Amino acid sequence: MDQTMRERTGGRPGVPAAASHGEPTGAVAVAQGVHWIGALDPDLRTFDVILRTANGTTYNAYAVRGRDGVAVIDTVKEDFTEAFLARLEQVARYDEITALVLTHLEPDHTGAVPELLRRAPQAHIYVSHRGLMVLRGLLKDDLEHRAYTAVDTGDTVSLGDCTLAFLCTPYVHWPDTQCVHVPERRLLFTCDLLGCHFCDGRLFNDRVGDFRFSFEYYFEHIMRPFKRHVAGALDLIEPLEIDLIAPGHGPILRAHPRQYIAQYRRLVDPRLRAEVGRDEKTLLIFYVSAYGATARMAQAIHDGASENPHVRVSLYDLQGGEVAPFVNLIEATDGLVFGTPTINGDAVRTIWDLLSGLVDIETRGKLGAAFGSYGWTGEAVRMVEERLRGLRMQVPEAGLRIKLHPTDAELEACRDFGRRLSGHLTGHLSGHLSGSAAGPVAPKEIDMAALG
Ligand code: FEO
Repeated sequence: MDQTMRERTGGRPGVPAAASHGEPTGAVAVAQGVHWIGALDPDLRTFDVILRTANGTTYNAYAVRGRDGVAVIDTVKEDFTEAFLARLEQVARYDEITALVLTHLEPDHTGAVPELLRRAPQAHIYVSHRGLMVLRGLLKDDLEHRAYTAVDTGDTVSLGDCTLAFLCTPYVHWPDTQCVHVPERRLLFTCDLLGCHFCDGRLFNDRVGDFRFSFEYYFEHIMRPFKRHVAGALDLIEPLEIDLIAPGHGPILRAHPRQYIAQYRRLVDPRLRAEVGRDEKTLLIFYVSAYGATARMAQAIHDGASENPHVRVSLYDLQGGEVAPFVNLIEATDGLVFGTPTINGDAVRTIWDLLSGLVDIETRGKLGAAFGSYGWTGEAVRMVEERLRGLRMQVPEAGLRIKLHPTDAELEACRDFGRRLSGHLTGHLSGHLSGSAAGPVAPKEIDMAALG
């Protein structure tokens, strides 16, 4: 190795790095026979409409050369096709490409697929089973002229002296996501998993700038809603022999790759085990109150729910208007109750703010309920219940509405409402957590005549 190459590699034999902090001059070797052939997009500031990117992103694609062929792992966003193909041409001829692996079908990784297949029509496409449907949408009638296979965990493709071993890792974050392990190179392609939007031409985690913020931000906004599935993917990945993780975006993780896997494991852990007993359920009650009536209902529901020794109940007044700190609590809880008066035919804004903040977390299957005092029309409780069902929560009890201030009898009804919610959580009520599939339940209005 000459001195110039040694400087560029930082002393790692056969692993040249980017020539500068900017765009690498060509394909970049990441392991024996494996090259990065992706593209840099430093000017990107918003990804997928909702995700901010402080310094752009990279679309990582890779070429794996084996004795019997070359596999291309993913492509790039369509606008970057030219750069991708130029890098690919530096490390392989088109007629050498035997396999095109798509770790998922989102356009930022498949934009160059049609042009690549036009130049390498013999390439055999490998997608997950869920990916087939999207592949048909991408290639339309052209798919019938292509060789393709849907693969699952345990399936392998040999390149002669190395193997592509597929791992089905759905919903991290698309339904069709898969990872690919190359055991002979101790290398794992992870799709969006363990990636981030961070653009630095030095490419490797031990060379680029500090990307910790981007790594955690990406997890929060892309992976967090799918924590359960991320945990399943980690179960598959953790036993593997891995020296290098090659994600679809951001730095390639060659220094301490297992630390990033461990960080993901910490991020998906659903709760602080030491604080909540394994046999204990948690119920959070949030409310806003205009004249104190909904607040009195909330306290009574809290008191009733707390009679169950197996349910830890917490009560929060959202009058201050700040909701962001509660999202972490909600992610870890088993049940949620929202109290709101009806003002101008709607729930109050703070409640909507909190509910809209739940889009980044998994709420499916949690218990949900609503209550509130009202003066005239009282639509708020039903509206909140519909939102809870929209979040795939289970709403086993009809919402509780009380006109103006609650009487003693009505407060006892609130306590009973709380008792019943706790009972659903601990399974002490028949038909507990009947599920959103049960359809809408009309809010339950206290009938003063019936109460006597
Ligand atoms: Fe980077 Fe899910 O696309």
